[in-house]
Amino acid sequence: MLNFDYHIPTKIFFGKGQLAKLGPEMKKYGDSVLLVYGGGSIKRTGLYDQVVEMLRQNGISWQELPGVDPNPRVESVRAGAAICKEHSLQMVLAVGGGSSIDCAKYVAAAAHYDGDAWDLCIDKSKIKQVLPVFSVLTLSATGSEMDCGGVITNLATYEKIGGGVADQRPKASVLDPSYTFTVPASQTAAGTADIMSHTMETYFNRTPGTYFQDRVAESILKTCIHYGPIALREPENYEARANLMWASSWAINGFLSDGKANVWTVHPIEHELSAFYDITHGVGLAILTPRWMRHVLNEDTVSKFVDFGVNVWGISADQAPYDIANQAIERTEAFFFEEMKMPSTLTQLGIGDENFERMAKKVRKTALEDGFVKLTWQDVVEIYKACL
Ligand code: NZQ
Ligand code: ZN
Repeated sequence: MLNFDYHIPTKIFFGKGQLAKLGPEMKKYGDSVLLVYGGGSIKRTGLYDQVVEMLRQNGISWQELPGVDPNPRVESVRAGAAICKEHSLQMVLAVGGGSSIDCAKYVAAAAHYDGDAWDLCIDKSKIKQVLPVFSVLTLSATGSEMDCGGVITNLATYEKIGGGVADQRPKASVLDPSYTFTVPASQTAAGTADIMSHTMETYFNRTPGTYFQDRVAESILKTCIHYGPIALREPENYEARANLMWASSWAINGFLSDGKANVWTVHPIEHELSAFYDITHGVGLAILTPRWMRHVLNEDTVSKFVDFGVNVWGISADQAPYDIANQAIERTEAFFFEEMKMPSTLTQLGIGDENFERMAKKVRKTALEDGFVKLTWQDVVEIYKACL
């Protein structure tokens, strides 16, 4: 295990009715806020009314940035920053899924920046000051509610870039699982796949001596495998929604990655798919993950797949390592594509091989060279092809 400095300062208000605690917390940082939200789900569910009532009761004035798209666009960040500057707003509050929260994080940084917001996505060293960020989470998936990352898309240049600095981590987040009762089945499945992928990006890692982190990771994966299908069948099952929600935060907030040299591979490969085809992030991950696993399974990595098969999928340890590894990959596929009913190929999404080389060459070099297994851009093309 490597050295690390543990510091995960987001205050979490978890459970039913916890929204009431957010106003007094926000008041410690200011009394004006930009309210950032998506395409209208929070209006349909009535959450919007609850949030503005909470702001009113606490004497917090607000402006709004509605219409943040899934795979949030840099245009929304620019618009949000302009509103913050015009009204000298002191805080940013996202109400929604990862897209709204990510957008809010970059709005909060761009509000203190004189140049174009896209500069901050390309080069995080330009982020010098950030307005305090808060979130009310409505979809269990990205972990953005408790991490400092954000991912912004520039469709004009086919770029989707993830980054972030410590100050972009929310000061406080409300995690009320009942807000996720209305998440449609397809997004519930995609969110579950995303939580699992965050966990696996850290789990499939070469840092030795991380027994503790690995066992915690296995628990998060088992939580998703157990509760994902229940949430699909029974959208209002509080227990399932609550376990998925807390798993979403833990998968990426640093608990799993502290102590590991940790470079992610599948996410950067997926981000190219989203950048070129604007697909749902978790769907891309589910399609890529088993193909990536097959591609990286070899003599050096098989023992990790044995752990994964035995400890996560409950496969009997009394078999040859490759048999266990292959069964584990098959079980992963069956979980995503049969149990969670997700699309299983890029072809199903209308994606052909027309941009594979271009996309593969854009994947960050470190993701390929310093990941679990060293890959070249040609490997990435092969992985994409296996997804057709
Ligand atoms: O836009 P609205 O109307 O709110 O509808 C959303 C959207 O259509 C809907 N939704 C959310 N909560 C709902 C709901 N519908 C009904 N009831 C609710 N309670 O779901 C759709 C998807 O929302 P979105 O926020 O886009 O989903 P998600 O949370 O999966 O976020 C995806 C984005 O986060 C990035 C992804 O790349 C993608 O851009 N990621 C962010 C990360 C981070 N910050 O650390 C890490 C991840 O790996 C990921 O890359
Ligand atoms: Zn993700």
